[in-house]
Amino acid sequence: MIEQQHWHPVAGVDDVPAAAPLAAQLLEQPLVLWRDADGAIHAFADRCPHRGARLSLGRVEGGRLECPYHGWQFEGGGRCMHVPALPQFQPPAGHRAGAFEVRQAHGLVWVRLAAPAADAAELPQPAFAAEDDARLRKLNCGPYDVAASAPRIIENFLDMSHFGFVHEGWLGARSAAAIDAYEVEPTPTGLRATGCKAWQPQSNLHSTAAAQVEYTYEVTGPYTAVLTKLPEAGTTAVEGWRESIALYICPLTPETSRVWFRLAVADFDSPDEKLRAFQHTIFTQDQPVLESQMPKRLPLDLRAELHTAADKASSAYRRHLKTSGITFGVC
Ligand code: FES
Ligand code: CO
Repeated sequence: MIEQQHWHPVAGVDDVPAAAPLAAQLLEQPLVLWRDADGAIHAFADRCPHRGARLSLGRVEGGRLECPYHGWQFEGGGRCMHVPALPQFQPPAGHRAGAFEVRQAHGLVWVRLAAPAADAAELPQPAFAAEDDARLRKLNCGPYDVAASAPRIIENFLDMSHFGFVHEGWLGARSAAAIDAYEVEPTPTGLRATGCKAWQPQSNLHSTAAAQVEYTYEVTGPYTAVLTKLPEAGTTAVEGWRESIALYICPLTPETSRVWFRLAVADFDSPDEKLRAFQHTIFTQDQPVLESQMPKRLPLDLRAELHTAADKASSAYRRHLKTSGITFGVC
């Protein structure tokens, strides 16, 4: 599965305790995340190589992960260092737990389950240009556990024509549901859609009046995307105001997902909770509709559902998933 070679978010960095394991899951692979004595985060298959117990039920002892069953201890690279039943025994190098590569970015822990073959290209960590923009404040919202496939959630994020219905009074109005033509171009990681315009009664926390808002969308990985709202009149005096939101999805199973949003906003004054509350309101409007969609897996055969010009971005996303060989969460 090519998706195993992509980097995916599995947990918030701050959600991994200092001295206890945390269970996670990625692409149906159960994981255990834990920190060593230096605070570095490791991700192992959540299965002890001795007798198969769940390592996430164990504990962290002296900078090592200890299995709950017979107390075998593993160091950060996965190697077993100690077998309590045989204190003098030096475990050979092959006595090891399954360790995966880990990175930290955007306040999240990222894991890939497989490295690309020696002659194949590295698949990049999804980009988020706003991350390095000091004029924008960053914070995460989530996780949300959603009974929908990751690709359905990406499509919902790219979709403007639901605003007047799902987000009526917030991001749209049923009386102003028309979508002007917009541009979609393919990119190596997915697509970029530009010139996406919507009339929004309350487009963000600080909106004082309805406004015509312009969006750019970018698909940055199979299950990640970024939207940028371009400067908008009548919102705030911040020069060069713009707002960018990254959607990061951990595909748990083909039909269930864990979702985070990374907000990048020009608002350094509002408390975190207030910024999160707006995003929370919007996403919990989406969630029941997303969870109702059938089939849960995204159909890549374009004949399976109906499309119009307003769905150009989602059609391009389906084509991209198909040509890049994605099989998880699609049908
Ligand atoms: Fe883990 Fe025995 S099953 S130590
Ligand atoms: Co929505």
